[in-house]
Amino acid sequence: MVQKISINQKREIGKRSPMIYGQFIEHFHRQIYNGIYDPGNPLSDEDGFRTDIIEAIKKIKIPVLRWPGGCFVSSYHWKNAVGKKRIPFFDKAWRVEDPNSFGTDEYIKLCRKLECEPYICTNAGTGTAEEMSDWVEYCNLEKEGQYAGWRIENGHSEPYHVKYWSIGNENYGFWEIGAKSAEEWGRLVAEAAKMMKHVDPTIELSAAALADINWNINLLKHCGPFLDWISIHQYWDMMPEQNNPATYEQCMAFTDEIDRSVQEVRGILTAMKLEHKIKIAFDEWNLRSWHHPNVHTIEQGISKEEYLYPRDKNDDNSTYTMADAVFTACFLNAMNRNCDIVGMANFAPILNTRGCIYSNDSGIVLRSTYYVFELYVNYMGDVVIDTWEEEQIPQMIVTHKNGMPVKVKTLDILATKWSDKPGLAVAIINKNPTEEQYIELDIGEQEGQAILYTLNGPSENSYNDVHNRQVEITKRDLGQITNKLSFKLPPHSVNVLQV
Ligand code: AHR
Repeated sequence: MVQKISINQKREIGKRSPMIYGQFIEHFHRQIYNGIYDPGNPLSDEDGFRTDIIEAIKKIKIPVLRWPGGCFVSSYHWKNAVGKKRIPFFDKAWRVEDPNSFGTDEYIKLCRKLECEPYICTNAGTGTAEEMSDWVEYCNLEKEGQYAGWRIENGHSEPYHVKYWSIGNENYGFWEIGAKSAEEWGRLVAEAAKMMKHVDPTIELSAAALADINWNINLLKHCGPFLDWISIHQYWDMMPEQNNPATYEQCMAFTDEIDRSVQEVRGILTAMKLEHKIKIAFDEWNLRSWHHPNVHTIEQGISKEEYLYPRDKNDDNSTYTMADAVFTACFLNAMNRNCDIVGMANFAPILNTRGCIYSNDSGIVLRSTYYVFELYVNYMGDVVIDTWEEEQIPQMIVTHKNGMPVKVKTLDILATKWSDKPGLAVAIINKNPTEEQYIELDIGEQEGQAILYTLNGPSENSYNDVHNRQVEITKRDLGQITNKLSFKLPPHSVNVLQV
């Protein structure tokens, strides 16, 4: 059966922010130390950053990098990680010693090398409104006061102009150090927001939220006027305690739930008449949750075999297959479609753990999800346009990880164009694990050279590893297109057709 898809370039949905292709890095396992920050490694530059990793990240043009956490941040004191004397501290979130050798100055230097915006998440767990606003002083005041003075003493005379700040991480969760009630949260965010904006009124502030009416109404009632963003997080294949990755079929069931939290938060913002003032920052997301048993629980692990060493299981590259690529592309399609209210999204994380890049002492592996970002940032347009299907998209019944059957569409389609040049770019994801799909694309009175980029591997379980590369992008020239074009898409594939 041929799936007919029509596009009318005049039906514009909106212009997406490049920041929906953002990333996140946390002081966890090998993301920072022995990850991107690896002084002494022959592959590292004079500042201690791995040049192979930096180059790979620059190729996917990340617009913004959120740091330092995540749960880590809720007992982190930034003042101990600037200046000549770095005070190692015991990170109570992840129960390891952090040398504090990577702090604000190193992070800003990293963002400059990556040519991306910094986005700092502050400690609203054990931290105070004053400590958060002191951090803004350190980064953004020219020379007034103690903390700008520290920055200058540390050799950085110019302010860092950090525009994006988040108040807290997941302070709604019992697992978070310094967890808060909805009422406490609204009050703390209001006081922190007030002090931070008194230091630098040009910053944009986010605060942790979730798709929970009570929490968000309290938050927005107390500090709606101060906030520019509301931060939500989601992982779908939950594996913090048991490392049992969902199968391809089970992951396709997850694609049916992707933008539910966006719609719920949109509803709350609209009900409070804030939908044109506050945008959603989906600033932690990944199909797969991180594996770190016996720390997000009341009972902590006793031995390192119980709570520390299992974190290495995140490094198993065979976990990250075409299921991850297909899900990630479906997520990015959904964020493009919701570009009127989603202004930022941060893949969690960019490096190691469940990241799109894996590194070891001697090199890197580009996992399947890395190529999805490479496709979207390099080949998709910035204006989202409407598409419609002549017939209903074929569906398939898949079994959710909870054992229930789920009916999901087998195609996910997003059409875009550019605001500054002619052309079209259409992302078409074939979720079917076994069937290829025939597409007839009607682009109206248009013509041009059609190129099809396909991200795929031999099977739905294909992955990339140190000595084994199965997933890559191939390019096919489909010749001239005059208003209609027919082509087929392989199973379990992410495709971008450019005209
Ligand atoms: O699993 C990693 C954690 O997930 C992040 O630190 C936190 O923000 C989220 O709960």
